[in-house]
Amino acid sequence: MVALTGSGISAESGVPTFRDAQTGLWAKYDPQELATPEAFARDPKLVWKWYAWRRELVEGASPNAGHEALAELERSVPEFSLVTQNVDGLHQEAGSEYVVELHGNIRRSRCPVENVTVEPDEMDHIPPPCPNCGSPLRPDVVWFGEALPAAGLEAASEAARLCDLFLSVGTSGLVHPAASLPYEALENGATVVEVNPDPTPLAPHADFSLRGWAGEVLPRLVGAAFG
Ligand code: OAD
Repeated sequence: MVALTGSGISAESGVPTFRDAQTGLWAKYDPQELATPEAFARDPKLVWKWYAWRRELVEGASPNAGHEALAELERSVPEFSLVTQNVDGLHQEAGSEYVVELHGNIRRSRCPVENVTVEPDEMDHIPPPCPNCGSPLRPDVVWFGEALPAAGLEAASEAARLCDLFLSVGTSGLVHPAASLPYEALENGATVVEVNPDPTPLAPHADFSLRGWAGEVLPRLVGAAFG
């Protein structure tokens, strides 16, 4: 069994979805124009501050019943893979132990020169410098136009091709390659179940399209299977 999640699963934790309108100070910016290597090269301070704001949001959030239901599935299903496009770390907080993070994690920082994750120790500068080499750090996330981590993508794709049941939860299914995973599963004969309150491009292809909130639908599914 494979579950693919997107930012919709964290909506009930109070973390706005990727394409939701931004609020306050950031309302005038389009996330798709901040989450790029070009934006970071042009204005590293602006991009760092945007991520610092989002990091604060996720650090103040707690996992919800949807995250918890997926952690429960990991404990109940002998072969279970959780693949997420989310960068918020809420699956791990809910108790999921093996999470393939296709788009990185906002709680980590990375030195773009040494290509290693590091902990910033000097916050007087924005972005803070790498403690090893002094280069400006970046958030450890994948930006538009960047390659996904090869090992994670290969693991996710293999799991999608081999699974019997594929759950797609809280994702608009617009951003490839993650959006291709349910189709790989379908082509290989898996049953595909989508959980989303709104229609998505996957809905007409899925075997079951469950229109509802992840925090309500997932616990009911898990309860029906294992309760
Ligand atoms: P989107 O913002 O595109 O889609 C969120 C989806 O969640 C929508 O289809 C909503 O209908 C759905 N949704 C909202 N509330 C929900 C709830 N309570 N339960 C279930 N579903 C709900 O976010 P993603 O699909 O995650 O990538 O976006 C994918 C990627 O696009 C992101 O990871 C980001 C962006 O490009 C990068 O930054 C590389």
